[in-house]
Amino acid sequence: MSDTKAVVFDLYGTLYDVHSVAQRCDASYPGRGMEISAMWRQKQLEYTWLRSLMGQYISFEQATYDALVYTCNALRLDLDKATCDVLCEAYLNLSPYPEVPAALRRLQDIGLPLAILSNGSVFSIDSVVKNSGLQACFLHLLSVERVGVFKPDPRVYAFACQALDLLPAQILFVSSNAWDASGARHFGFDVCWINRRDSTFDELGVAPSYVVRGLDELPEIILATSPARTAPD
Ligand code: 2OP
Repeated sequence: MSDTKAVVFDLYGTLYDVHSVAQRCDASYPGRGMEISAMWRQKQLEYTWLRSLMGQYISFEQATYDALVYTCNALRLDLDKATCDVLCEAYLNLSPYPEVPAALRRLQDIGLPLAILSNGSVFSIDSVVKNSGLQACFLHLLSVERVGVFKPDPRVYAFACQALDLLPAQILFVSSNAWDASGARHFGFDVCWINRRDSTFDELGVAPSYVVRGLDELPEIILATSPARTAPD
């Protein structure tokens, strides 16, 4: 990691807990919150991948809306417009994982520029980051909207190199999503996989460079593997 010049994060599921919408789902559909949230997220991801394969890019908000409609149809739940609006709005107000704010500040103190590279639209990334008060942590908020295709398409990772004016090997990419970590590793980034739930890494031909259980473990790894960097006082 001695070459690392910037740390680039995935957003959904990595810095922010997508299942923070489960409580809102539960308020609309008592007892079904987690079931809805899990299917909703899975379909949202599938729709981004399928849209990329079809060459039919849509915004992340549209994929999120379509996935919610599918989920409610599949679970035989009535979805009126007001509920749909409230639930989609909840995706703009996700909570960061508890260790994230302090860990980001520690990474900033080490002197590394931080950025987000997400499948979210410019609007959704800005909203989630601003609504959680973490905007000062990031030098760049990079959306796939500029590329017109979703991760793990390599053009998206290339866009991050272009935006940061760095080579792939100079970027440490951090994701909790094994499919995203794999795409980034194939592209040539150093990759840290955050495995908070003792999950199994995907069999996609690559392994992450580092595995942590929470973002709070990353600053020490960077300091230990980059002799030129020193811990802030
Ligand atoms: C992202 O933030 C969808 O988690 C994915 O790009």
